[in-house]
Amino acid sequence: MRTSIADIRAAYLRGERIPMITAYDYTSAQLVEQAGVPMILVGDSLGMVVQGHDSTLPVTVDDMIYHSRAVIRGCATPMVVTDLPFLTYATETDALRHAARLLAEGGATSVKLEGGRPVAPTVRRLVQAGIPVMGHLGFTPQSVNQIGMRVQAKESAAARELIEDALALQAAGAWAIVLELIPAPLATAVTAQLDIPTIGIGAGPGCSGEVQVWHDLLGLFSDFVPRHTRRYRTLAEEITSGLREYADDVRSGAFPTEKNSAAMDPAVLAEALY
Ligand code: KIV
Ligand code: NA
Repeated sequence: MRTSIADIRAAYLRGERIPMITAYDYTSAQLVEQAGVPMILVGDSLGMVVQGHDSTLPVTVDDMIYHSRAVIRGCATPMVVTDLPFLTYATETDALRHAARLLAEGGATSVKLEGGRPVAPTVRRLVQAGIPVMGHLGFTPQSVNQIGMRVQAKESAAARELIEDALALQAAGAWAIVLELIPAPLATAVTAQLDIPTIGIGAGPGCSGEVQVWHDLLGLFSDFVPRHTRRYRTLAEEITSGLREYADDVRSGAFPTEKNSAAMDPAVLAEALY
């Protein structure tokens, strides 16, 4: 059985902290499940870490469905949350159509979308239609061109706004809210004011849970290490050295060997060559 929103809510009410990690394909989803992580985010961060764009803006609903389906095939128990990409929820009609596709075609249990009070009516509409919504406040990557890639809500006025946004999302029916790149004390205060879980990333230890990007956690991204992450492994080095060994072995003839190949009776071959 796949982890449900009710399961996450129960964990939250028991005071258990909730880990979440992004995954974008079948193999990584299998590994997340084997690690016992209950929630997978098919994030539109895939635009950067999978597709190589410099922002999440070019990602499409079809991209999100493609990756969600691969993730769903890779795991049976984690809940899968899929991002609504940039400009796919600008109207309630668009939001309904696209969110419905992420659930019906992608197999997601919930969608996630960015923004506060301006999107609250949309959140309400989706929730009324039976589509669970996770909010996302603070640094919202789809607005990078407006807000810059930096810690948000550092001033009192902006912090007050963020709290209002969080309360509005909760009132609209969001079941959880991602808090990205905001001061830790603010995230702790928001978490205390809400009756739904907060999932932090770059928001300190006071949230109800944490989400991190696969490539950051595993050191697959050699470009830079954001302060808000921790490299639990440095797989980029591991992979590069493995690949280099492989290439060297091919060049030297050390791989493949007979052990890696099918044999053939010389008499059978001789007859074929005749
Ligand atoms: O797309 C993503 O990976 C996200 C997380 C960083 C929260 O939205
Ligand atoms: Na995202």
